[in-house]
Amino acid sequence: MKNCAIILAGGEGTRMKSSKPKAMAEILFRPMIDRVMDAALGAGVEDICVVTGYRADILDEHLKGRAETVHQAERLGTGHAVMQAADFIKEHSGVNVLILNGDAPFIDSKTIADALEYHTANRFVQTVISAKIDNPFGYGRIVRDKNESFKAIVEEASADCKTKKIKEINSGAMWFDCDTLTELLGLLTNDNSKGEYYITDTVSIALGKGLKVGAFAADNADAVLGANTRIQLAELNELLRKKVMTELMTEGVSVPCSDGVMIDDDAEIGADTVILPGTIIKHGCKIGKNCVIGPNTVLFDTTVGDNCTLNSVQAESAVIHDNASIGPFAHLRPGAEIGESSHCGNFTEVKNSKIGHHTSVSHLTYVGDSDVGNGVNFGCGCVTVNFNGKNKNRCVIGDDAFIGCNTNLIAPVTVGDRAFTAAGSTVTDDVPADALAIARERQTNKEGWVTDKKPYRPKKY
Ligand code: UD1
Ligand code: CA
Repeated sequence: MKNCAIILAGGEGTRMKSSKPKAMAEILFRPMIDRVMDAALGAGVEDICVVTGYRADILDEHLKGRAETVHQAERLGTGHAVMQAADFIKEHSGVNVLILNGDAPFIDSKTIADALEYHTANRFVQTVISAKIDNPFGYGRIVRDKNESFKAIVEEASADCKTKKIKEINSGAMWFDCDTLTELLGLLTNDNSKGEYYITDTVSIALGKGLKVGAFAADNADAVLGANTRIQLAELNELLRKKVMTELMTEGVSVPCSDGVMIDDDAEIGADTVILPGTIIKHGCKIGKNCVIGPNTVLFDTTVGDNCTLNSVQAESAVIHDNASIGPFAHLRPGAEIGESSHCGNFTEVKNSKIGHHTSVSHLTYVGDSDVGNGVNFGCGCVTVNFNGKNKNRCVIGDDAFIGCNTNLIAPVTVGDRAFTAAGSTVTDDVPADALAIARERQTNKEGWVTDKKPYRPKKY
């Protein structure tokens, strides 16, 4: 059986003053719990059990299909939280379990894997991941004896002046042998100033029983940082934001002014791409080489090819191929795919539609639920009328078609290759290839009508 993990996420985050569980607070737009889960999965952990408490419904929904959850009805401390997963621990008898805090989002797969190696190589029953940090206030301190041997973890609330000076802290992440953990949980008490069951007390209990316990100091001290307040959350956000930009710049991406630039650490961005102010690149984005992204562009789960320009664009679950130019002020919604060298200009919206290469959707146009060919030109103000109040229908537009200004294509409708629609047409029937569709009232002029009726008196000017 593979090693498993328990993530503690029952806390209300009283200090966050939020109506959501603390683990749902976001660092660079991704909930802390997701970052912690990714770190565990990346280290080869397979089964994950999340301890929920405050607003468990939110976490149950968020984690559906990805992790099992157990509910901690009362928050009686981190040790009590782990006790709720007693069955999960017993099911994993014979392997190791990793305990993680849902509010420590920088823990990384390498630190977890290195700590496991240290844990197994030394045959420890418990290995705590620690780090030395400049401001240890609020963390549990790693207490060592004269020989540097690990003795105990002492929480801030229980620490005396000397202990408070210790800079080596408990990250909250720790490996246990499952069977030993079951035994240690049975020995935990809440005999401390807060009346809580501390998981950290397992260290002194195990040592008291003559068991071997280790503290693994992480190379990456940031890996241990946790967020209990919105101020700490903002600090972690800023730390990761700067780190990501530094890494990207090292790889050849330009960020000439980082004002308002926030890029998720999972973003892949090619060399010579320039990221301009006000650009937010969220989870799941891949951007090619030599692009200009921004200013004021927000991307989520979106792939962008090489040599693309995105100016004031909002895109979600979209794909943009090489040499495309999008914006200013364009909205690509889920399922939008923009072909090579195509253009979506100002005030255009594309949803669940595939647009071919060398196609131009320049101004004030909505393309929804449609398949658009190559070399198509949309005039200004065109609409694919995809929703009839009940159902969504598709439009199909062939290669090199020319959709005149202010055309409404009432879906389902097909416009053939090279076909034209006259400006102002409301097209309800298919248009054959090479045809011109005119679907509008013929104009009549009433001579002298204004002189007779005097319908309008303009202001004097
Ligand atoms: C904890 C550790 C501390 C460590 C720090 C690292 C204990 C007693 N202290 O302190 O040594 O330095 O993390 O960030 O373990 N939780 C529950 N149920 C509870 C209580 C907490 O699920 O009853 C969850 C919280 O949601 C959180 C995690 O456990 O994700 C840690 O709890 P928190 O109260 O934040 O502990 P800290 O005071 O930060
Ligand atoms: Ca915490």
